[in-house]
Amino acid sequence: MDKFVIRGGNPLLGTIRVSGAKNAALPAMAAALLTDEPVILENIPQVRDIETTRKLLSAMGAEVELGYGRAQHRTTISCRQIASPEASYELVKTMRASTLVLGPLVARCGRARVSLPGGCAIGARPIDLHIRGLERLGATINQEHGYVEAVARRLKGAEIRFDKVTVTGTEDLLMAASLAEGETLMSNCAREPEVVDLADLLNKMGARIEGAGTPTIRIQGVERLHGAKHRIIPDRIEAATFLIAAVLTSGDLNVSGCEPGHLGALLEQLSSMGVKTARSQESVRVIGDSPLRAADVVTEEYPGFPTDVQAQYMALATQVQGTSTITENIFENRFMHAQELGRMGANIKIEGSRAIVRGKSPLSGAAVLASDLRASASLVLAALVADGETIIDRVYHIDRGYERIEEKLRAVGAQIRRIGEILPKKATAPAV
Ligand code: EPZ
Repeated sequence: MDKFVIRGGNPLLGTIRVSGAKNAALPAMAAALLTDEPVILENIPQVRDIETTRKLLSAMGAEVELGYGRAQHRTTISCRQIASPEASYELVKTMRASTLVLGPLVARCGRARVSLPGGCAIGARPIDLHIRGLERLGATINQEHGYVEAVARRLKGAEIRFDKVTVTGTEDLLMAASLAEGETLMSNCAREPEVVDLADLLNKMGARIEGAGTPTIRIQGVERLHGAKHRIIPDRIEAATFLIAAVLTSGDLNVSGCEPGHLGALLEQLSSMGVKTARSQESVRVIGDSPLRAADVVTEEYPGFPTDVQAQYMALATQVQGTSTITENIFENRFMHAQELGRMGANIKIEGSRAIVRGKSPLSGAAVLASDLRASASLVLAALVADGETIIDRVYHIDRGYERIEEKLRAVGAQIRRIGEILPKKATAPAV
């Protein structure tokens, strides 16, 4: 397993370009299951979860071309026919977002068999709301042997009200309802930009969706959907990660190719701390040399402060004079990074869903362990300001959602390199 070796102390100076949003690309690739015509997606990030999704769709019988040439970062997915509408445990256990194929498969093939994702490092993460929504659309659901099976000759439009705001739940049912008979009205929907991006793609494919980005979405089901070409939105979480890195290292960094309108809550939080930023149409610049004030943060569904930026913010809070309270409202176990930050010298006390961070604590480099995608990002950020060398193990977590992060950071002055596991040489059979 690869590791990162990072030596702290360098300010980040220059420009980093963000990649396409992983959490927009995953549902968009699943949407290709809804048509027998090719779907072309551009600005696809070169991250592990995209490769996992390519394997998942190919296993069903889809043809998936995936290219990351200079101009490309593009995938063409053709699901002329779906040989087996299944998502195996082997794949789902490595990426829970595989459940995004559930809705499209039932809508396209009339049946789906998808492994239940099980929990993950940050929480239980059930998919009961996905399942209940499909039942509302007329699917018959059976759960056994760790799989959920959904069957419906043809889904029928219905009213669906989500008990909790769920991003992939909204996306799953948006795709299912697109091919249902009649109208579906969904309320208490997720409002994330990734939901809006999916609705934009589905409408390009011939769906009739109104209200994406608001809590209420109306879908007029259609008989069939056709192919389309679509450019995935920039990754707002990657952008947020680099902006925080700039503040932490007292750098002067321009994060380009992003959508400043998707970063409202973070930019508001940074300005309440005294951070100077400048925005253009598609970039945000952070000049990290101003004295910072501690500021509390509460994670909420979009447009509130994103739970996916909570771990990175915690790393920043350790370097700010004063006490910052971080309240995690979305997931029940998303403070795994706190212990590792503590091993680097941070002063963090966990009380239920709150983390009390007392700064400023000088951090020292250490050997640390990544536990999940955003916790890994938090450790990279802390290592950029720690005194001495940090070794981060299990960086495959970070490779799931950040494209070549070590190259992007090195290009703006960070001292970071990847070391591959030195695998024992394969024993060669003795010469006979
Ligand atoms: C999406 O996960 C993102 N993943 C997550 O990003 C993100 O943290 C999360 O939304 C919240 O913003 C993708 O888009 C692929 P939820 P998702 O359903 O859809 C509960 C990252 O780092 N819930 O919005 O799985 C759930 O347990 C990842 O890129 C149910 O109870 O999250 C949680 O407490 C991590 N029943 C809350 O709702 C359900 O059926 C929000 O979860 C579904 C969800």
